[in-house]
Amino acid sequence: MEFQQSPLVLTEARVIGEGGHKRVYVHPGDDSLCVKILLHGEEDSDWRKEMRYRRSREKRGLSSQLLTRFYGSHPLADGGTGYIFERVRDYDGQDSRSLREYLDSKESRLKPDMVLTGLLSFRDLLFEEKIITSNMESSNFLIQWLSLSSYRIRIVDNIGSPVTIPLIFYVDFLALRHVKQYWERFVRDLQRRYPQIITEAVAAELR
Ligand SMILES: Nc1ncnc2c1ncn2[C@@H]1O[C@H](COP(=O)(O)OP(=O)(O)O)[C@@H](O)[C@H]1O
Ligand SMILES: [Mg+2]
Repeated sequence: MEFQQSPLVLTEARVIGEGGHKRVYVHPGDDSLCVKILLHGEEDSDWRKEMRYRRSREKRGLSSQLLTRFYGSHPLADGGTGYIFERVRDYDGQDSRSLREYLDSKESRLKPDMVLTGLLSFRDLLFEEKIITSNMESSNFLIQWLSLSSYRIRIVDNIGSPVTIPLIFYVDFLALRHVKQYWERFVRDLQRRYPQIITEAVAAELR
């Protein structure tokens, strides 16, 4: 007998976030998950990049603390397809906000001294896991509070590479070189955009 998946009904009231490519909803049947839908159809090149990279990591048996878990696709009631992911939430159940939102806000609970320590831990894990991104943007890094005073950073978007034969997926020293280049660029961007928080001294420690 064929297994029938009942289509998911998504409601606008349960939208968590939206970017240039996707809208993200709370999963209607499980609060610990979210459902991503593609705003520009299934041929989205960003999305294909991400899926290709996730498949290559899966084949190599690589796990990650930085990336969210992916649970596959599911039909939607409106006829589309939803992609099911781990939903990144803080210890109190609130949806985690992006690094960008914290850095942009004047009254941020993410104090400048906490930015440096959090980014240093993030950098170490990024170099260890060698997550390939096609660009690093603070809007795709979520600050996941684990308690009132500690957090970790999670990567939710822009992973993978646009090149046809991505050797960096398979050759670790090339992957590390890529990650280090992108990290340097990311630190420079932060320094340019948030000079009060990412001062020259902070940037020097992060490099
Ligand atoms: N796994 C997740 N858990 C919680 N929120 C998420 C998750 N993935 C994305 N989001 C939120 O939704 C926004 C848009 O998702 P994203 O995957 O970045 O789409 P886009 O490709 O359109 O930028 C993110 O900036 C973030 O605020
Ligand atoms: Mg995004």
